[in-house]
Amino acid sequence: MTTKGRILSGMRPTGQLHLGHVIGALRNWVELQSAYDCFYFVADHHALMSEYSHPEVIRESTLNNVADWIACGVDPDQATVFVQSHVPEHAELHVVLSAITPLGWLERCPTYKEQLVELEKGGKDVRNYAFLGYPVLQAADIIMYKANYVPVGEDQIPHLELTREIVRRFNGTFCKAGGEIFPEPQPKLTAVPRLLGLDRRKMSKSYGNAIFLSDPAEEVAKKIATMYTDPKRVRRADPGHPEECNVHDYYLAFAPERAAEVADKCRSAAWGCTDCKKDLAATLNAFLDPIRAKRTELLGDKAALERILRAGNERARAVAAATMKEVRLAVGYWGF
Ligand code: TRP
Ligand code: SF4
Repeated sequence: MTTKGRILSGMRPTGQLHLGHVIGALRNWVELQSAYDCFYFVADHHALMSEYSHPEVIRESTLNNVADWIACGVDPDQATVFVQSHVPEHAELHVVLSAITPLGWLERCPTYKEQLVELEKGGKDVRNYAFLGYPVLQAADIIMYKANYVPVGEDQIPHLELTREIVRRFNGTFCKAGGEIFPEPQPKLTAVPRLLGLDRRKMSKSYGNAIFLSDPAEEVAKKIATMYTDPKRVRRADPGHPEECNVHDYYLAFAPERAAEVADKCRSAAWGCTDCKKDLAATLNAFLDPIRAKRTELLGDKAALERILRAGNERARAVAAATMKEVRLAVGYWGF
């Protein structure tokens, strides 16, 4: 399991997971867990940044999300699955890193303004200190486990670059040459199929355009019926352009072996969009059925789910405690 190095990734518990999470993260997590030593965690401190006015969302989403991770194939016997706030070392390392992170690095982080706009569109007020410090806490998460790789999408690369700069600065400031404590984590870019929301904007709970893993089958079918399709295909007899159609993207993501046939039937107008969507609903529900069954089973025995998390927390904490010991020594605080 430890052959190729260590991987770390996390997700903020801010509500139900949707298909965007499956395609954007979970599939990769499952793929990576057998070849790498993977640490996957619930970023509840990060979630507080945007959910502080209704923190019960964090509490509820933690178990819910972990149930979805496992239902999608994350195996807590292979990967270490844990909760950030249960490893208090994250907060401690964040404080240390904050001292060596110039404000300019944070203010210049290109994802900063974008994310601000997106969160505010979703009605969140994130003009708080935590938002500015988000990448510093993220750096602490990553380097705590001396992760070699972080699976990221293109848009997250600047965050990771910031982590690498913080690592260089930490090692340069506090470690003797040759005695560096932290490796620079590398991005693990993985090919992720495009999957937009029902309305072709980014899939997001706050846009109301998401299909959730918890949606019952009828709800999934109803949502798919509302999906935007090829705008040029007005009448049933018009030939379609699958490459411009969101529905076709869903086939590519969830039933790639059928995408060519779907595209043919679309271009030749052998079937209409209603037929195509009904078929997609059946295809997606076949994909989601076992996931729904597994998540229901997991959430039916919360005590067992909690035991999984507690075991993961303990494993993570052992690593984090060792790292923090090194950090306190390297910084040179009195008494350690
Ligand atoms: N930023 C991630 C999210 O939005 C959560 C996260 C926190 C994370 N720390 C991380 C991801 C470290 C990867 C590595 O859900
Ligand atoms: Fe899209 Fe399918 Fe309609 Fe073609 S037939 S435009 S792929 S929904």
